[in-house]
Amino acid sequence: MQKKETFYITTPIYYPSDNLHIGHAYTTVAADCMARFKRMQGYDVFYLTGTDEHGQKIEKIALEKGKKPLEYVDEIVRNIRNLWDTLLITNNDFIRTTEKRHEEVVQKIFQKVYDQGDIFISQYEGWYCTPCETFFTKRQLVDGKCPDCDREVELLQEESYFFNMGKYANRLLEHIESHPEFIQPESRRNEVVNFIKMGLEDLCVSRTTFQWGTPVPFNPKHVVYVWFDALINYLSAIGYDSDEEKFERYWPANIHLIGKDILRFHAIIWPIMLMAMGLPLPRQVFGHGWIMLEGGKMSKSKGNVVDPVILVDKYGVDAVRYYLIKELSFGQDGLYSEEMLVNRINSDLANDVGNLISRTVAMIIRYFDGKIPAADVTEPVDQELQDLAQQVFQEATAKLENLDFSGYLIAVMKLVSRANKYIDETEPWLLAKDESKKNRLATVMYNLLESIRIIITMLAPAMPTLPERANQQIQVFADSDQIKWQDAGSWGLVNSGAEVKKGEILFPRIDLKTLEEDNIMDDNKADVVENEAAKATEEKQPEYISIDDFARVDLRVAEVIACEKMEKADKLLVLRVRLGDEERTVVSGIAKNYKPEELVGKKVILVANLKPTKLRGTLSQGMILAASDPDDNDVEVLTLERIPSGNRVK
Ligand code: ME8
Ligand code: MG
Repeated sequence: MQKKETFYITTPIYYPSDNLHIGHAYTTVAADCMARFKRMQGYDVFYLTGTDEHGQKIEKIALEKGKKPLEYVDEIVRNIRNLWDTLLITNNDFIRTTEKRHEEVVQKIFQKVYDQGDIFISQYEGWYCTPCETFFTKRQLVDGKCPDCDREVELLQEESYFFNMGKYANRLLEHIESHPEFIQPESRRNEVVNFIKMGLEDLCVSRTTFQWGTPVPFNPKHVVYVWFDALINYLSAIGYDSDEEKFERYWPANIHLIGKDILRFHAIIWPIMLMAMGLPLPRQVFGHGWIMLEGGKMSKSKGNVVDPVILVDKYGVDAVRYYLIKELSFGQDGLYSEEMLVNRINSDLANDVGNLISRTVAMIIRYFDGKIPAADVTEPVDQELQDLAQQVFQEATAKLENLDFSGYLIAVMKLVSRANKYIDETEPWLLAKDESKKNRLATVMYNLLESIRIIITMLAPAMPTLPERANQQIQVFADSDQIKWQDAGSWGLVNSGAEVKKGEILFPRIDLKTLEEDNIMDDNKADVVENEAAKATEEKQPEYISIDDFARVDLRVAEVIACEKMEKADKLLVLRVRLGDEERTVVSGIAKNYKPEELVGKKVILVANLKPTKLRGTLSQGMILAASDPDDNDVEVLTLERIPSGNRVK
């Protein structure tokens, strides 16, 4: 058997100083999306995450809680593992820096670098920021405070070991120059290059003022600096110095996915450590942007952290993952609010993906007793759909390869929209009325299923439970656990004869109004009080709908291109209307007030997403708006002058 190509991807190992929040979930979900994508492509993937458990900060917090450091972190680590289970993270290992397999490697490496003279002992004086676990020179401080977190720093003097980073600075600069993909996104590369060019000072890599760390092997008074310790996890987890076969298989890593906050550690210190060890550098360090809340940065001290477990509980894992991957465009900062999450679920998932599947399922049940038909009557519009599917496949693949996660989902959603439009264009309900068009109708249904199969395949890395849940209704996959990414690039893989059946709603619509009433989204007390007041007066008020409810009504400008009286129905007119490129038939009860010719050429307002219904044997695809007196004797159709047909009324 040919050996599979490997793909090694990592997240930062997070500090278990407290439970993690949606910011940490962002990195881990994105890396998981990538790991699943690569597995679907057939790679031998190793996906690593874990926890960074040493250091003064953890020691301090544990002490405050009256616990031993390990006892304290054990509990948090349990929660973190549960969080990753809840989010269906498929990490292949979970490394803890307190594990023996890790500490041994740290000591080995420290010794090796010391023995070759790149680590030496000296006196250290510097300003230390404990929350950041970072030393700063006086020059680096901003108004005497930590340049990263703006907190107080302490002046520390101690005998320490130093790592001579300057020795490798030029080699690193050359590497960055000759490997443009090494630091991504590109905008961050310059920042790193400039920093290196300012000159790299010796890095203090040991501490004596606290105990909670990996002891320096030849001088156990010292513990290894927490970053020197932590970065080594990327090696210790894959068997450096213990499992040569495994280590050779996966190193160098393909991607270290991190937030931009820790880019310098990964793009300067880490590569220089590797150079000192004589190891090849990772192929890419990708520093993504920050998730901000509307009120600014998420922080435990502000008490505004968002717990992903609660979100998954409320909205389901696929939806939460989809939101994180789609909304937050990589490289840039993103905004999080629960309202945006809900709107995204409603528009992309409930409306677009959910409707596409449920409409198709309903039609195949109605027209073909739930048996997937074979396709043989093709028209140009089918080729258009097929071409777009191919184009979207290429685009989604390229975007994922570049870690442009939002771009990837935007691409997939193009096919979702196109497939929904294909239903409107092919008008299956009209084909169904004509027995001679049965084969054409079968082709349309088959093409819809193919589109759905391709869409779900491409959504699978982001929404891992979707293939199985959808397959319970539409059986487009022989085995929903064994989907290949490449299959999204082929057309015609759905087997005719398989069965379609009605099932659960895949993405239920969420009522934003209920959310607001529950105050789930308010972290601001004033808003809470206001809402309480609103609730108290609610009984006396008419029942309001939200703007979101209103937006569900798709009102369109429609031009009447033909109109006639319906036979044997003295109240009904049958109108043919045009909405942009689309034409529809609408039955309207206005024959007493309008002669057919009066309406031709007028632009009326059509409720375009009203469920089509048969009136006296004619399918009416929407309803036109009219005002009337209380007895319905006088009726006046609403018309417009300037705005062209097809446009929205809102
Ligand atoms: O830095 N938006 O751990 P950490 C986006 N232990 N990403 C966020 C985020 C936000 N609001 N908040 C956190 C450490 N992150 C070290 C790492 S690695 C050898 C050692 C994510 O718990 C993002 O990936 O502070 C960021 O880089 C990481 O959590 C920091 O996690
Ligand atoms: Mg941090």
